[in-house]
Amino acid sequence: MKREILRMGDPRLLAVAEPVREFNTPGLLALLDDLFDTMHGANGAGLAAPQIGVGLRVVVFGYAQQNVRYPEAPLVPETVLINPVLERLDDTLEDGWEGCLSVPGLRGVVPRFARLRYTGFDAGGAAIDRAVEGFHARVVQHECDHLDGILYPMRVQDFTRFGFTEVLFPGLDPSAD
Ligand code: NI
Repeated sequence: MKREILRMGDPRLLAVAEPVREFNTPGLLALLDDLFDTMHGANGAGLAAPQIGVGLRVVVFGYAQQNVRYPEAPLVPETVLINPVLERLDDTLEDGWEGCLSVPGLRGVVPRFARLRYTGFDAGGAAIDRAVEGFHARVVQHECDHLDGILYPMRVQDFTRFGFTEVLFPGLDPSAD
């Protein structure tokens, strides 16, 4: 079921989410369905449980086909990631444009670690362990920030590169935001 996406200003987006303690439960599976339905309905590249008002350490991200919000971005496999732990593989930072379904209509340049290892669990509790880079690494860092109450505008350093999507990128598909 598609759920309402909380927008910046809602205090629930600023809370630190709790770890999932039981896997493969009806409640967890229903949450994952709702996250995917909501993300797909909004053409998002990712969505974190706190964005639909659920304070658990659960994110979904990825897309099998080109994403209209990020037409230039490489494909990222559709992934469920629960209780994630992120570890940078080196200190290299990369600037890149980000948006957020909780911050509609805006984009900003955010520095992120370019190379990352992430671990966590899937819906059934099986371990996930991946080393990634580029846009994939960026999406994971953005989504996992939501679990600690961090929204991407809090990480913008150069506010000359933060603004309205339709002004910054006039050619972008209007359904993108
Ligand atoms: Ni977001």
